Amino acid sequence: MKKSVFAAAVVASFVASNIAKAEPQAEVLHWWTSGGEAKSVAVLQKEFADNGGTWTDMPVAGGGGDAAMTALRARVLSGNAPTAVQLKGPAIQEWYEEGVLADISAVAEEKGWDTVLPASIAGHMKCEGSWCAAPVNVHRVDWIWANADVLEANGIAMPNTWDEFNAAADKLQAAGVIPLAHGGQAWQDATVFEAVALGLGGPEFYQQALVDLDPAALQSDTMIAVFDQMRKLRGYVDGNFSGRDWNLATAMVMNGEAAFQIMGDWAKGEFLAAGKAPGEDFLCASTPGNGYLYVVDSFAMFDVDGDDKKAGQNLLADLIMGPNFQEVFNLNKGSIPARTDVALDKFESCAHTSAADMAASSDEGSLLPSYAHGMALRGAQAGAITDVVTAHFNSDMSSADAVKMLADAVANSL
Ligand code: BGC
Repeated sequence: MKKSVFAAAVVASFVASNIAKAEPQAEVLHWWTSGGEAKSVAVLQKEFADNGGTWTDMPVAGGGGDAAMTALRARVLSGNAPTAVQLKGPAIQEWYEEGVLADISAVAEEKGWDTVLPASIAGHMKCEGSWCAAPVNVHRVDWIWANADVLEANGIAMPNTWDEFNAAADKLQAAGVIPLAHGGQAWQDATVFEAVALGLGGPEFYQQALVDLDPAALQSDTMIAVFDQMRKLRGYVDGNFSGRDWNLATAMVMNGEAAFQIMGDWAKGEFLAAGKAPGEDFLCASTPGNGYLYVVDSFAMFDVDGDDKKAGQNLLADLIMGPNFQEVFNLNKGSIPARTDVALDKFESCAHTSAADMAASSDEGSLLPSYAHGMALRGAQAGAITDVVTAHFNSDMSSADAVKMLADAVANSL
């Protein structure tokens, strides 16, 4: 061995053993503050403490994580990045390109992450070939949740088409029930919009319009139909929806004030945390149409000084991908494990549906990244679409005007 190579190897093993000896510390930025979310993140906090770690919590409330991302930018710009951050999709790559992420390949390679993750998930976690994030789960976005008693009392079955949904909603409205629980926040409008786009347009249309940003798809008649359906849905929402948090909308379904909510399966985490049973108290079904919109929650580690923090990052990365954590966390969170080797025996029926549909969609080529939850597009493009969706939902803008505005906004964001 050449002298310099030998010296480098000695330094590397000295650094590694110092990190191994340090007491793990982590300041963790996340937006998991609702009942089900808090219960889920507590699983990680406990495992970290059980392994000698000291966790400093940095929760930034706000569904979808917009506020958390603003807080993150302020911290990084002031040269004081948190140790670990809930981050996902292209945002991981965007931060990597700014040169501020730590490399967690040593843990990933030692634990063989490549052998237990689907290639599509592993792809999101790698930056130029090295591992830059650790995945906790797979959430599905395109779900409808319903209050079982309210549907039964009104003689309504879970809808299989958007026309059936509209007919059910009209019937409920006539009976004095709020058909759709919704919180008027931009990301919630976007969540509903992408489910409608997938449902009415199909997987290919979704890919063209909301992943490839194809101008023809963005201005198509199909997109007009999507905005028409959004206008219909606006009519099924109660008058107090503006600014309402998503979990309060879930609570409206839980207590029978409203019949349906269109939301990702973190909503199931709320039902379960409140002791509600699927099939009895609440019902789940994918929104009408084919395909599966996924979100993978993950943590990226930021480049920070200090052996204690580096030890914290290694420990967190290792725990996050641990089979026990992936099971317990996801039982609470409403999602399914990212690891393919975790048995689903303890999971309820909606999680089984999610896993089966995910496998089938993957085979059919209709497993698609959620644009509304930061999996498909860079921040500027996703933001441009969401601004139009919200502007349309909160005004009497025509579908034709919305489509024109959408195409212009996307073009200007590129
Ligand atoms: C995240 C979920 C979270 C939800 C509501 C989504 O973007 O993927 O983990 O529960 O937002 O905050």
